[in-house]
Amino acid sequence: MAEPRPLGMLAELTHRCPLRCGYCSNPAGPAPRAGELTAAQWCRTLDEARELGVLQVHFSGGEPLLRRDLPRLVAHARTLGLYTALVTGGQGLTPVRLSALVAAGLDHVQISVQDATAAPADAIAGRPAHRRKLAAAALVKEYGLPLTLNVVLHRANIDRTAALVDLAAGLGADRLELANAQYYGSALLNRRSLLPTREQLDAAEAAVRAARARYGGRPDIVYVRADYHDGVPKPCMHGWGSRQFTVAPGGEVLPCPAAARIPGLGVHTVRDTSLADIWYRSEAFNRFRGTDWMPEPCRSCPLKEKDHGGCRCQAFELTGDAAATDPACRLSPHHGLVRAAVDDARAAPGGLPYRR
Ligand code: SF4
Ligand code: FES
Repeated sequence: MAEPRPLGMLAELTHRCPLRCGYCSNPAGPAPRAGELTAAQWCRTLDEARELGVLQVHFSGGEPLLRRDLPRLVAHARTLGLYTALVTGGQGLTPVRLSALVAAGLDHVQISVQDATAAPADAIAGRPAHRRKLAAAALVKEYGLPLTLNVVLHRANIDRTAALVDLAAGLGADRLELANAQYYGSALLNRRSLLPTREQLDAAEAAVRAARARYGGRPDIVYVRADYHDGVPKPCMHGWGSRQFTVAPGGEVLPCPAAARIPGLGVHTVRDTSLADIWYRSEAFNRFRGTDWMPEPCRSCPLKEKDHGGCRCQAFELTGDAAATDPACRLSPHHGLVRAAVDDARAAPGGLPYRR
């Protein structure tokens, strides 16, 4: 098989963030500024990424706008011919900041919103943020950039799926990502209050079908389904170490944003060695590449090339073994853990958890 080449790099510039969403997948607890890569280190990382074949870079966080050197990084990426996207919570995206980013060559902006209206959205974010997000979205359209709106769906907001589509259409968003929460980090700690019911998921999926018919593709609606409810695992990352990688704020290079929590993975940083060395030769990237690492039942399953055995981080978080079949799969010997979590959440009271 030909060696995989990465197409995308997620550049997590910082884990600092002004919001406190209870489903955040970043490490729980305060995120220090000390230890973040410098602009010069990021520029060198971008050079190496381009040499490796990367075509797109997503500047993300935490909140990437907390880095004042963001325009310099965007400009550097553009000189390399990379497509640049900003993934932001929209706080601090003022006309001054956006015009500097546009002058630097920014191609695309993705803004997260927490709900369809201010009161519940601000309750989820843990501070008044919604109105600034809407103003930021309007500004992005004013500057003529493509706009994606991203919403993490969970029990407290999923009933307003139709209203979220209306919001995105009203803002002129080109794309709307409705992504059911993934249960790592704070989201796993708060899973009991975040997991929706089967009935909520069915209603949300019906709302998406109706909205697609009503809006005819603008915004383009991408619905990322929940993987706890129907026994089907997600094809996480399109396979480990196959298309993309993440560089964490301190320079750790990871096959996915959540992989830092898997112990003994042999993670290297861009300070230690080159991206090419990490991508092609490191233990971290080779451990779960392809299908040879798979245990039964994946090993003899006809779906193993399609779903790649599900998610390694979820397998680790739920079973303590990153090489286990993802418990979201109905064939996993650990599937009972997922079913029990769904039943347990159904019995739990609602309420909004915050990032811990
Ligand atoms: Fe996928 Fe493994 Fe389940 Fe088969 S057994 S469906 S490969 S997770
Ligand atoms: Fe890490 Fe799925 S989130 S492999």
